[in-house]
Amino acid sequence: FKKLRDGFLSSVPSTQEFKEAASFDVSKDESTVSITVVGASGDLAKKKIFPALFALYYEGCLPKHFTIFGYARSKMTDAELRNMVSKTLACRIDKRENCGEKIDQFLKRCFYHSGQYDSQENFAELDKKLKEHEVMGVWVSTLTEWIIPFRLSDKNITFDYWSQMDTALLLSEDIPSKGGRVSNRLFYLSIPPNIFIDAVKCTSSSASSGIGWTRVIVEKPFGRDSDSSAALTKALKQYLEEDQIFRIDHYLGKELVENLSVLRFSNLIFEPLWSRQYIRNVQLIFSEDFGTEGRGGYFDNYGILRDIMQNHLLQILALFAMETPVSLDAEDIRNEKVKVLRSMRPLQLEDVVVGQYKSHTKGGVTYPAYIDDNTVPKGSLTPTFAAAALFIDNARWDGVPFLMKAGKALHKKRAEIRVQFRHVPGNLYNQNFETDLDQATNELIIRVQPDEAIDLKINNKVPGLGMRLDHSNLNLHYAARYSKEIPDAYERLLLDAIEGERRLFIRSDELDAAWALFTPVLKELEEKNIIPEYYPYGSRGPVGAHYLAARYNVRWG
Ligand code: NDP
Ligand code: BG6
Repeated sequence: FKKLRDGFLSSVPSTQEFKEAASFDVSKDESTVSITVVGASGDLAKKKIFPALFALYYEGCLPKHFTIFGYARSKMTDAELRNMVSKTLACRIDKRENCGEKIDQFLKRCFYHSGQYDSQENFAELDKKLKEHEVMGVWVSTLTEWIIPFRLSDKNITFDYWSQMDTALLLSEDIPSKGGRVSNRLFYLSIPPNIFIDAVKCTSSSASSGIGWTRVIVEKPFGRDSDSSAALTKALKQYLEEDQIFRIDHYLGKELVENLSVLRFSNLIFEPLWSRQYIRNVQLIFSEDFGTEGRGGYFDNYGILRDIMQNHLLQILALFAMETPVSLDAEDIRNEKVKVLRSMRPLQLEDVVVGQYKSHTKGGVTYPAYIDDNTVPKGSLTPTFAAAALFIDNARWDGVPFLMKAGKALHKKRAEIRVQFRHVPGNLYNQNFETDLDQATNELIIRVQPDEAIDLKINNKVPGLGMRLDHSNLNLHYAARYSKEIPDAYERLLLDAIEGERRLFIRSDELDAAWALFTPVLKELEEKNIIPEYYPYGSRGPVGAHYLAARYNVRWG
């Protein structure tokens, strides 16, 4: 390369010189990763995937040689994709030093190919482009290191020139045999579920570079019930091995959810209390202060039980309640999650309350009802709120209610795990509380979002001459304790997929176990046309949720 670099000063190198330099370069055990976002024109790609990839790039977490491809039906040039993506990069990082420069460098690695999701031909075109860039990836970054001081534009070296050199390299059979360049490929299927299989089929036929791994990230929903999920798994396995499939549940990538195991298994004070002996109930709460705005068409086919409970909240529950895994290895953790899910009782209709938000006017502003969304069928009974009581029939959790509550268009946005402990037996201080029977119990609150925090409610003496007790908090507020920003869940998950770490992705047997718990009740709700309890937009949700909790002696936190 030194020779080549010196050559640039006087002349443009020949194909042969290029090939020689490449053979030299690739023998340095360099690998490339091509990340293809299938459905790149969509909401999730813009909102989450591209910003997460940029954040990883900014943090120096992406491999040195990487290329990002957008793929969708919309017609776009590379420049248009870059323009679209650049508008979404107002992420947590954008106020930092050099951000503009980093964005420019990142965008140069982004390309676009337009095609149908069921066209082998279009995917073959993508494959060809990927191959070109896989070679170029090593080239461009290596050459950039060498050539930056020499202004290419002065020598009229164009992209076509590079492509020509690149083709020469592709044709050069001895390059892979030098054992150096491994071309890895990651496909992110950010598309509606009805086109998953077509896309997987086409992706798999042109997915592999020949040398290197191919992984496919699949977005939820993974079916609508046990049967459709099994059919999806079967179809995926027709084209991919299980270890190539990365089923994403982005809640597993949230900081406080990942911290759950640390909290449990590395603190002596918690694990001994983690059972029916000391825990009275566990609450898993998700609420959003906005409706299904813009996503009503998707949502109506799924409803809140499938959208949030069967996946996000159930995954948290599994991590919360599983036994200690043999190790932190992905398979060991997932084995324990499956075990606890399989110990659970399928959800019963009498243990479910469903609701749907209705229009509400507040401060002169009218907030729409769920069914006011044009994409929602008139008279839809799809629940936008649900509360449920679940039980784990094993020795650790026998009889402990796990209460879930999830809703859209509620009064605030939050995701929390609340653990209410039993009363202190024979508490000497019962008389010293001023009010409220519940005050004598401890509560652990793990706030997943917003304002990540861990609070432990303890009983404490109010300072003074008397003996009055109150409930006080031992607080760990992340913003106050840690100066580093918390990465978005998608950053962690994308990085894990690139690194082949499967711990935070869902295995197919986990999925089967999760659907087995929800499918019967989902069918019953639909077959019996259960009318949801209507609650005003921005309220605390249907009162039925309180009756359900009260049945199990629980008060929602
Ligand atoms: P979109 O509805 O925005 O679809 C993504 C892209 O797919 C579109 O830009 C469009 O691209 C193409 N597309 C849309 N509908 C069809 C269709 N009927 N036939 C063929 N192509 C179609 O989806 P999102 O980006 O919102 O979500 C992508 C995936 O991620 C989905 O599975 C969703 O359930 C899941 N998800 C989304 C979340 C979100 O917040 N958006 C959150 C969690 C999961 P083009 O027309 O250019 O081909
Ligand atoms: C998605 C659901 O999985 O999670 C959405 O489909 C929901 O309906 C979203 O809004 C919530 O994610 P987050 O990370 O914003 O809490």
